[in-house]
Amino acid sequence: MTPVASFFSLGLSLVAWHQPMKPENATTDKQVSYHRQIRPLVQVHCQGCHQPAKAQGAFIMTDHAALMKSGDRGLAGVVPGKPAESHMLEVMRPKNGKRADMPRGAEPLPEKDIALVEKWIREGAKDDTPASARDTVNADNPPVYGLPPVITTLDVSPDGKLLAVNGHHEVLLFEVGTWKLLGRLVGLSQQVQSLAFSPDGKWLGVSGGNPGRFGEIQVWDVQKRKLKVASSFTGDTLFGLSWSPDSRLIAFGGADNIVRAVDASNGKQVLQQGAHNDWVLGTCFSRDGKYLVSASRDRTLKLTEVATQRFIDNVTSITPGALKGGLQVGLVRPGKEKKMVKASSIAVASTEEKVYEEVLIGGADGMPRLYKIHRETKRVIGDDANKVREYPALAGRIYAMAFAPDGKIFAAGSSLDGAGFLRVVNAEDGKQVSQAEGQVGAIYALAFAPDGKTLFAGGFDGQVRVIDPATGKVLNQFTVLPGGPAAVSAKAGPG
Ligand code: HEC
Repeated sequence: MTPVASFFSLGLSLVAWHQPMKPENATTDKQVSYHRQIRPLVQVHCQGCHQPAKAQGAFIMTDHAALMKSGDRGLAGVVPGKPAESHMLEVMRPKNGKRADMPRGAEPLPEKDIALVEKWIREGAKDDTPASARDTVNADNPPVYGLPPVITTLDVSPDGKLLAVNGHHEVLLFEVGTWKLLGRLVGLSQQVQSLAFSPDGKWLGVSGGNPGRFGEIQVWDVQKRKLKVASSFTGDTLFGLSWSPDSRLIAFGGADNIVRAVDASNGKQVLQQGAHNDWVLGTCFSRDGKYLVSASRDRTLKLTEVATQRFIDNVTSITPGALKGGLQVGLVRPGKEKKMVKASSIAVASTEEKVYEEVLIGGADGMPRLYKIHRETKRVIGDDANKVREYPALAGRIYAMAFAPDGKIFAAGSSLDGAGFLRVVNAEDGKQVSQAEGQVGAIYALAFAPDGKTLFAGGFDGQVRVIDPATGKVLNQFTVLPGGPAAVSAKAGPG
């Protein structure tokens, strides 16, 4: 239910970071390159609506061959050597005094980019995609697995029936209990970094992308298993997706140090905050949806007002050394606290319930910490006034955390030298409820079932473990390997 951790590890081959590829200039006499110049433009401006999982106007733009084909109107997108007959070019320019038709609902491309497309078509619209960069995976040609994927993210639907787990190039939907694979949501992103069901259960939000090429936000219709929205941002993968409580907005972080939020119904950006100075890996909304909290490798947790996009405050202390490493996860605390309202010094008149306005953080130093979202006292240099509590550190770096739905206990997962550590902690008094240390591989993803009675953990070994949070025992586990053997095994538990 709660947004799970985003994922980052330089130690894994899954994450290879390159410099974002930028389209080159149109001014030279050099032949225009499809791979280096046209494809990146299309990726940013067109692909969200013209891809196999969502082919608007029946026109696909994700590879060279598809651009040559025609869509609903029967007009070829590109006719090599003939810009005037290429429908793709036609729709990018204003016509009959009306603004350009494409990209639909967005600013037209700058004329220099359109001129680049025109020059490429005039020169014969050649395909110079290197074999290594061809990506032919889609729903009809789903990814083939040699090994199970490293699980970087998972989430349970609010009704408790579906478990969504990242695969390669896709999200896999399993039926909770039978662990049957119910759906494969194949999108454009090779890497799925984070995913979360919307609080109303209708949508599944996904952040990911192709390293060094593009970042992407996907919104899937859970019932229909259809891609509703795909939107590109930045030249690298995106992290730490979270939903606003009203299921309208999606927030996420990027390797460009910026935290963004989009309208989930159309993928349009509604918020951008650039106060971080390192990658933003985790986001969460306050309980009332008015504020966004972002966790960054820059060792700060920042508060942004959603309506104004204004950076409000550092939630954590900004004193150097206060946090020993970058932050990975920021998680808003669900549930309510009971407060005694005293009538006199001895008699309790009533108890009132108040939603928690707290956020749990974790990262490089392995120590979970609970903070108040809003500052109650004036900032004094060096203070850490919002801090509510520190919890005993886990070995290694925390990659994942999840709150039980009532906000009373949380789970934290870490990794050190390939070994995973999982601890369930009482948020109130800091006491350990259970642990599964040493029994599980590196943990990158955690989520509680909506009834709080089971905990799902995933990580390096591609196994989903179904854990009893009260005891830390593994109740069940299965391998995420679509097309592979159905490796469901009831396990008696560790030891
Ligand atoms: C927000 C969604 C969206 C984006 C982004 C978008 N399109 Fe479209 N496009 C559509 C829809 C919807 C249609 C079909 C309905 C129509 O033609 O009006 C369409 C149709 C088309 C068609 C006509 C297909 C046919 O034969 O009917 C072309 C060509 C096209 N788009 C090119 C582009 C190009 C080039 C870009 C990027 C510069 C782009 N589109 C970006 C939504 C989008």
